[in-house]
Parts: sequence; C-alpha cells; structure tokens
Amino acid sequence: LFAGQTEFVKGVVAMSGLPEADRLEVCFAGRSNVGKSTLINALTGMKALARASNTPGRTQEINYFTAGDFYLVDLPGYGYANAPLPIVEKWQRLLKQFLQGRQTLRRAFVLIDARHGVKSVDDEIMSLLDSAAVTFQAVLTKADKVKEVEREKILHQVRGALAKHPAAYPEIILTSSEKGWGIPTLRSVI
Ligand code: GTP
Ligand code: MG
Repeated sequence: LFAGQTEFVKGVVAMSGLPEADRLEVCFAGRSNVGKSTLINALTGMKALARASNTPGRTQEINYFTAGDFYLVDLPGYGYANAPLPIVEKWQRLLKQFLQGRQTLRRAFVLIDARHGVKSVDDEIMSLLDSAAVTFQAVLTKADKVKEVEREKILHQVRGALAKHPAAYPEIILTSSEKGWGIPTLRSVI
C-alpha cells in the first residue's frame, strides 16, 4: 500500500476475465459516486491510479490493482449511473456475480456517503454479502462534507442498518479522502 508499489493489473468485464485466484483480495463497493476510486487513490498515495470523476458511473469495469502480495479491487458503482440501462444492468450483474463468487475475496468494504447513510440499494448488497458469507465493513466517505451533529446521526443510522446483517463487521471507519481522515486506519485494517 505504499506509493509507487501499487500497480494497475487489468479491467475485467466478465467473470471469465478475472485474474487467477492465487492471492487474497479486498474490494471496494458502494453506490455510484460514493468515492470508491478516490479512496483507493488516497490509500495508495497515488493520485491517478484509479480513475475518479464527478460523473456517477465512472468505473465501468472490475479494476484490479496489485498491492504487495494481495489485490485491491475497485468495483463499478450501483444504484445510479449515467449510462444506457442495458449497459448498467450488465455491470450490476457482473458486480453481483463477483461479490458472490470470488473465492479469494477476504473482505468487502461497503462505502457509504457520510451525508446520506445506508440506502435500500446498500442494504440489498449487504444482504447479498450475508448470503455469500463475505465479511464486509462499512466505510463512511466524504466525512469532510458533514457537520459533527449530522455525522453522529448518520453513524447511528448506519449502526442500526449493520446490526441486521450477520456478515457485517461492527466497526465503522470514518474517512475523508480529501482530508486524509481515516486513511491510516483503513490501511492498517487492510
Ligand atoms: P463510480 O466509479 O462512478 O461508481 O464512482 P466512485 O465511487 O468511484 O467515486 P469517485 O471516486 O469517482 O468520486 C466521486 C466524486 O466524489 C469525485 O468528484 C471525488 O472528487 C469526490 N470525492 C470522493 N471522495 C471524497 C471526499 O472524501 N471528500 C470530498 N469532498 N469529495 C470526495
Ligand atoms: Mg469509481
């Protein structure tokens, strides 16, 4: 996870294109525009490793990065995307297949916008992870955009939502890729 040691491996558009399952991996899932790609850049200290943008639907493939002896996986967003419906449906199918069927997936980080909390699409993904027995951990993003009172309210809502999911790891990580908040914590968890 050190700058200069993380490299892009490949973008995958079908399960058959996944790299050989020869090492552990962690993935970053979340609604479109929640900040998955930006978080990977902050974690690795490499500004332009994963392509981020203002437009939801930026990441359209399963992007693999090597980090030491494991993989970091940037996923397409769910919930909304600025692309034709058949294409969006194709990514969503792939995303679900990946989350349910990747043997070496050790943990999924489910990113939640600190302004919005857990939405029903997040809840659906969490249920899918429960049934696939993939441990997941919630990461609040864009914490720089909320005031403390609001943040506490959202944290309460997220805790309540996680309590319903057996595969959820109880600890929530609060981050801001913009300010660097929570990045060392998340790095050490990984
Ligand atoms: P998709 O690939 O479309 O699913 O989006 P994504 O989840 O990868 O989001 P991305 O990293 O592209 O970021 C979306 C937007 O949010 C960009 O404009 C980022 O600059 C912004 N953003 C991401 N993280 C933060 C943060 O911690 N704070 C603030 N203020 N903005 C952020
Ligand atoms: Mg992205």
